Amino acid sequence: MDSPSLPGHVAIILDGNGRWAQRRGLPRLAGHRAGVRALRKNFKIVRQSGTRYLSLFGFSTENWNRPTDEVRGLMRIFLNAAQRNAKEILDARTRFHWIGSENGLAPILVRRLRQLEEKTKQEDEFHLILAINYGGRDEVVRAARRMAGNASPANPSQWTWENFSKYLDTRDIPDVDLVIRTSGEQRLSNFMLMQMAYAEIFFTPTLWPDFTGETFQQALDFYASRDRRRGTAAISDET
Ligand code: IPE
Ligand code: MG
Repeated sequence: MDSPSLPGHVAIILDGNGRWAQRRGLPRLAGHRAGVRALRKNFKIVRQSGTRYLSLFGFSTENWNRPTDEVRGLMRIFLNAAQRNAKEILDARTRFHWIGSENGLAPILVRRLRQLEEKTKQEDEFHLILAINYGGRDEVVRAARRMAGNASPANPSQWTWENFSKYLDTRDIPDVDLVIRTSGEQRLSNFMLMQMAYAEIFFTPTLWPDFTGETFQQALDFYASRDRRRGTAAISDET
């Protein structure tokens, strides 16, 4: 079976910012700021590894249920990050994609995210996919609405996964090969569920702000050791 040893698309569920701060007696937002620093550092590491797509779970459709102050602080961090790191993303020859719903987001943030997409759309060497106000089920519902609204193909009995997947937020992005979740939690939490159908999943106890190239290497080693079968038999006739 085809088992390239390097994942083409890595998705990270970054978790543990709050606990990182708590352990230091700091407010949760300090943990989120440390999370952004870790993001900038690890972006470079992943960019250099040969992986071409990196997806990050920044804010889920369920995260609105956090305390108002934390939600506000996170939105401010995203707005700043979209502005301050724009040049870095451009310099890194990276195409930026935002996935998620506009619903409930500040129009200024939506504008910045769309601008960054627009400015980088000619790049193809590396892709950074940032999920903000994203939920896997929400994405499927939005895609179904768009497809039904378009009525294309007109006859629903001709709808297939191939034409449905063109309505997902990830329409131009290949499936996820490797999922990494930090902080010891072992859940997918509604992140890119359709895209992760065949992904390998690596869990690490490391909290996101402490994530380094070493942790990433552990995930790559884990991935390289897996036998990816996509539903085929474990042992083929030739062996
Ligand atoms: C992840 O860290 C932060 C986001 C991506 C919003 P958490 O805020 O969930 O950290 P814990 O789980 O409370 O430690
Ligand atoms: Mg958490």
